[in-house]
Amino acid sequence: FMKKIIIAIDGFSSCGKSTMAKDLAREIGYIYIDSGAMYRAVTLYCMEHGLFNADGSIREKDLQDQMDDIHISFRLDADSQRPQTYLNDVCVEDRIRSLEVSSHVSPVAALGFVRQALVRQQQAMGKEKGIVMDGRDIGTAVFLDAELKIFVTASAEIRARRRYDELKAKGQEASFEDILHNVEERDRIDQTREVSPLRKADDAILLDNSLMSIAEQKEWLKEQFEKAIHASR
Ligand code: CDP
Ligand code: CDP
Repeated sequence: FMKKIIIAIDGFSSCGKSTMAKDLAREIGYIYIDSGAMYRAVTLYCMEHGLFNADGSIREKDLQDQMDDIHISFRLDADSQRPQTYLNDVCVEDRIRSLEVSSHVSPVAALGFVRQALVRQQQAMGKEKGIVMDGRDIGTAVFLDAELKIFVTASAEIRARRRYDELKAKGQEASFEDILHNVEERDRIDQTREVSPLRKADDAILLDNSLMSIAEQKEWLKEQFEKAIHASR
């Protein structure tokens, strides 16, 4: 019988947080939760329900009134065994990754009432521990007592290149310049918003994975997990 812990992985956009979090969760038999997918799903809901004005601003009052109608869940795909994001019982996994959602999500995620609703759901998901969650505020707001906190960063060009390659592989081509601009713009909004801005928790371990392969960072994270399990016994 092994003690279960909470693992919080925060950091800048597109640096590989969800890739490493997912890999680790699968290997150690923990639940993986992509908190960014929840902010993306709320954003898609806004796009589909006319909650953006033509200038890109949000109809805040309308969104606030409709927050209770937005139900987000994660379900495992039977074939791939990968978690898929559902919005009101419809699978939106591919649509929430589009550049259009990426370019609208940060203002939505800056709204206090949106964060309050999603943070509450995230905390409920972690009640039993045995969870790996990635995002922006997991170690600084959602799970202040997480036994293992990681903060990931890499250069903006490298992150944009990773996102570009990923979209291209899925057949969703977008220009490298547009992606780079989006990555930098989201970093700026995420770091400067008033509610739970993106920042490294004092007790988080910093990882710059600019020059690391997926396999190397996976190995590194596994080591951090083993140390944290040992320390929390
Ligand atoms: O995968 P990527 O790093 O591009 O972004 P994401 O994790 O899917 O998150 C999308 C956006 O949601 C971020 O740019 C933040 O604005 C917001 N977010 C947040 O505010 N808090 C979180 N815990 C997770 C995401
Ligand atoms: O969750 P986050 O936005 O931080 O990034 P991600 O969606 O996990 O990863 C962005 C892309 O970088 C994925 O296509 C990964 O395959 C790739 N990648 C990586 O995660 N780690 C590296 N060391 C190199 C590439």
